[in-house]
Amino acid sequence: MLHSDRNGASSEVPFLVSWQACPMGSLPVITPLAGTTFGATVTQIDVRALDRDSFADLYATWLDRGLLIFPGQFLDNAEQDKFAQRFGMLEFGASPLSNVRRDGSVRPTDGSDDMMQVLIGNMGWHQDSTYMPVQAKGAVFSAEIVPDTGGATGFADTAAAYAGLEQPIKDRIADLRARHSLYHSQAQVGHAGTSAQYSGYGFHDGPVSIRPIVKRHPETGRRSLTIGRHAYDIEGLEAAESAELLASLVELATEPMYTYHHQWTAGDVVVWDNRRLLHRSTPWPFDQPRVMWHTRVAGDPVTESADAA
Ligand SMILES: [Fe+2]
Repeated sequence: MLHSDRNGASSEVPFLVSWQACPMGSLPVITPLAGTTFGATVTQIDVRALDRDSFADLYATWLDRGLLIFPGQFLDNAEQDKFAQRFGMLEFGASPLSNVRRDGSVRPTDGSDDMMQVLIGNMGWHQDSTYMPVQAKGAVFSAEIVPDTGGATGFADTAAAYAGLEQPIKDRIADLRARHSLYHSQAQVGHAGTSAQYSGYGFHDGPVSIRPIVKRHPETGRRSLTIGRHAYDIEGLEAAESAELLASLVELATEPMYTYHHQWTAGDVVVWDNRRLLHRSTPWPFDQPRVMWHTRVAGDPVTESADAA
């Protein structure tokens, strides 16, 4: 199947050989993101109405590209969860990531609101649920209300970044493992999270997850990096050395050639591979509402479990 990039050039994505015509009567158009190593925009598609073969093609494209963006879908929560379930069992269904309360008021940024503190924390690069016993496989994320400016979601390709590392760095990190904790990452932004407030999700009192820094993708076999704001305290290293190494890996993995920031339009839906990509949000004028919906796809316990400490 042919794809065109934003400059009009055509390329062939090897995975795609047999797209089925979708119910809208035409083939989806896959447009790889320009200037980076991953991601694609998919148009002429209704993600509510994919038959088995079409979804199999879409899934193969997702594994290949790591991030798919579907403009103008306008899914409701049930439709979003149903689409996410095609990628795997859910860790949790559609949940608001929003600076708007149920009564319509905008949440304060003075540190008193737990949801706002987590939203601010999410502006650091991370992978979802690495602090849980089983990290997430991926997520479906959609935009309902977007601000006039800012509020983008950034993604970074740690598989391409790992492949680009110099051999001495690969050798240094080959057998290293780091701890992952939401308490740790939220403390870095001045938020002492407790399970009594917010949803409490992730602020669990179980064992701290320990994960290898180098991860082998269970479906593609590619190696990538499990790093980001939840990671700290590499086994066998002094705290300062650990922090420096983890920060340097995030810096390498988020160089412009490995990143893409999606500026949302209401109705957009994306699905990303959390075993490969880091992500983050970017600031926006916090007096403006931003309402996003997040459905998290559960990781396979065989390949996404942490080694508990
Ligand atoms: Fe996240």
